[in-house]
Amino acid sequence: MPGYLLLGKFGQLGWELRRTLAPFGEVQALDYPEINLMQFEGIQEILQQAVPEVIINATAYTAVDRAEQEDETAYTINSQGPRRLAEWASANNSVLIHYSTDYVFDGKKGSPYTEQDQPNPLGVYGKSKLAGEEAIEAVDCAYLIFRTSWVYSLRRDSFVTKVLTWARHQPELRIVDDQVSNPTWCRMLAEATALILAKAGKNPHGWIYERRGVYHLAGSGFTSRLEWAREILRLDPHPGEQTTTAVQPAKTSDYPTPAQRPLFSALDCGKFSEAFLFQLPEWQEALALAMAVNNDRF
Ligand SMILES: NC(=O)c1ccc[n+]([C@@H]2O[C@H](COP(=O)([O-])OP(=O)(O)OC[C@H]3O[C@@H](n4cnc5c(N)ncnc54)[C@H](OP(=O)(O)O)[C@@H]3O)[C@@H](O)[C@H]2O)c1
Repeated sequence: MPGYLLLGKFGQLGWELRRTLAPFGEVQALDYPEINLMQFEGIQEILQQAVPEVIINATAYTAVDRAEQEDETAYTINSQGPRRLAEWASANNSVLIHYSTDYVFDGKKGSPYTEQDQPNPLGVYGKSKLAGEEAIEAVDCAYLIFRTSWVYSLRRDSFVTKVLTWARHQPELRIVDDQVSNPTWCRMLAEATALILAKAGKNPHGWIYERRGVYHLAGSGFTSRLEWAREILRLDPHPGEQTTTAVQPAKTSDYPTPAQRPLFSALDCGKFSEAFLFQLPEWQEALALAMAVNNDRF
């Protein structure tokens, strides 16, 4: 099998990628501080030594609000790093798998976004991720960019763990009902990536070069944060620990944040399912699986 280099093994997605890619054999998995996207020379050395046939980049600067202050850092990690990975991949006939976000859209369309829709990010995080997409696209390499949304794990802090924690300390929760997108369990995203690499076979470069592009890949269906929170509480493996007795709707404008977020950023994943002949499960089904598997923390 080809050699794989996974960057970002401790992130929500990277952790699951490490598990799902393990059966592929030759997988070198790294994360900060072994690698630092702010200092690409170190990564360049690792690439020259490992000469991976497939690079999977699960690193990202994901602090949406902090990015408003740290735009240089966000752009270096989310745009310049991916560009240099793409350049290396191009020069060495390697494949680059990369991930992007629904936050490249402004959320004003009112129906799920396709890959044909014009991005218009509202904040620095979305802008830096879009710049990363464009930088990779500008390099002639074998790449797949999966734009995903509302990624959660139960291992690292996420919306799901926050709701479960709040529900153990507060009598009432107020959750916004005007933010809508596709909740995506990071394990499903990792498994989809592994399935694609398995389909790509022993010589992934040609197979992926033919299919290179941006694809929306997120949990099927979409919902509001409020309904998502209600489903999390319904599926809580230890509901007896909840102190919350009511979940009330709120508005995004009730909770001003440094970064503006798109309101309706649901993704239409039709292009992905047509190209690769599968799709991620319904978000409720994935959430039920996630809660059943990861019931040791809550
Ligand atoms: N989370 C979401 O809701 C969401 C939504 C849409 C799209 N996405 C995209 O999905 C992908 C995976 O996201 P995720 O939620 O798994 O992210 P994550 O949990 O924040 O993981 C990102 C990883 O990158 C590492 N990293 C940060 N700065 C680095 C640097 N300078 N050098 C090397 N590594 C560095 C982080 O290390 P530290 O933990 O030490 O910082 C972490 O291990 C990203 O491309 C993200 O933009 C995420």
